[in-house]
Amino acid sequence: MAKGKSTAFFCKECGYESAKWMGQCPACKEWNTFVEEPVSKSKNKQQIGLARLGEQAKPLAVSQISLDEEDRIKTGIEELDRVLGGGIVKGSLVLVGGDPGIGKSTLLLQTCKCLAELEKKVLYISGEESLKQIKMRANRIGSFNDNLLLLCETSLQSMEEAIKDVKPEIVIVDSIQTICNDEIDSAPGSVSQVRESTNRLLQIAKGMGITIFIVGHVTKEGVVAGPRVLEHMVDTVLYFEGDRFASYRILRGVKNRFGSTNEIGVFEMCQEGLREVKNPSEYMLEGRPENASGSVVACAMEGTRPILIEIQSLVSKTNFGMPRRTAAGTDYNRVNLLMAVLEKRLGYPLSDYDAYVNITGGLKLSEPSLDLGIVLAIISSYRDQVIHEDTICFGEVGLSGEVRAVSNPEQRVQEAVKLGFKTCIMPQVSVDNIKKPDGIKLVGIKNIKDLQR
Ligand code: TYD
Ligand code: MG
Repeated sequence: MAKGKSTAFFCKECGYESAKWMGQCPACKEWNTFVEEPVSKSKNKQQIGLARLGEQAKPLAVSQISLDEEDRIKTGIEELDRVLGGGIVKGSLVLVGGDPGIGKSTLLLQTCKCLAELEKKVLYISGEESLKQIKMRANRIGSFNDNLLLLCETSLQSMEEAIKDVKPEIVIVDSIQTICNDEIDSAPGSVSQVRESTNRLLQIAKGMGITIFIVGHVTKEGVVAGPRVLEHMVDTVLYFEGDRFASYRILRGVKNRFGSTNEIGVFEMCQEGLREVKNPSEYMLEGRPENASGSVVACAMEGTRPILIEIQSLVSKTNFGMPRRTAAGTDYNRVNLLMAVLEKRLGYPLSDYDAYVNITGGLKLSEPSLDLGIVLAIISSYRDQVIHEDTICFGEVGLSGEVRAVSNPEQRVQEAVKLGFKTCIMPQVSVDNIKKPDGIKLVGIKNIKDLQR
């Protein structure tokens, strides 16, 4: 019965394959994600063995493997290099995901421009835009030299031929959802197409030592396969995110076989493409209100980078039985928890008050070190007392109101000094442990009760 069967069911979220339809995916537990698709008959051919990719199949000791400094290419876009772990690794496959219109194509075209200027041969393959459209975008970004070649193509086989022909060092594929592998019957963007195409690109990258950047759209619903399917195949996964209404964009490493995943790169979308934001703290604090209660600056860490952000809070008497609470840019439950701590430990009758907490700038942060900032902002708004604008704070708040140490206190304080802050409210333990910097007063506290002084 199953003999002539040439279709299978795939989970759109994680790519799980099943012979029959299921309501819930047993792998990722998502509901209603199964779609029926033809399966390729030539599947076994696609098996990858590293030996076939041109590498030796003989076991080697780690010390026998040589590494050249050359194996990483610095793009010159510092924010991107950092997220990649210090530059592009030769022969790696990088997935750049993000909502439509966020600026993935722009970022990659700009990367191409920098690489081309470094005398690297770059091939930009677009399945989404025509050459004229790419040219229009390129005109906004600047002038390009002839090391960058453009190609409009959706067929995987033709793409492969072009790559073999041009022998570029870096290839951009924009986007994986538009690629069509002629050997597979299903439509471009379907799970099996996306998976097989990525597999093929992986072989090309590893076999020829080319770095390939793949663009993938993120769609929660709809027929297009989410790039989540690809995440475990590629070496590096970067997400480009940001508010569509705010001009800044954040490039975040989600997976990286060659570096840390905690790094972020900050960009700003301008008329002439993306601009690097070298000092995000300054950017985030722009336009801060003066002498306003409920506003405080806190220091969060994004990877190895301290970022200063403003936390705002508005606490007002509730008019209905149920107080309203919202948290924008941070964890709602955390805000509720901190308010409960304030109520219990400091005796503030917050259950009669609405509270709105907002991290300005549109960043989404859920680091525990912001606790103290949130608490201070709420107290400031509740008591309608202004916190001096030269003050910064960080620290985790526990359930009994104790203020606990957080990581990298020294770096956080240094960032505060750099931006001219004069007072830092922080956990007492950290004050004792770090070297006293000049120009800033460190105020150590053990419990949030100390804040009432
Ligand atoms: P794009 O790179 O096409 O997004 P994606 O490839 O992720 O879908 O970015 C498109 C947006 O960027 C579009 O809304 C216009 C804006 N943009 C600028 O603001 N300035 C520029 O110089 C460019 C090239 C684009
Ligand atoms: Mg695009």
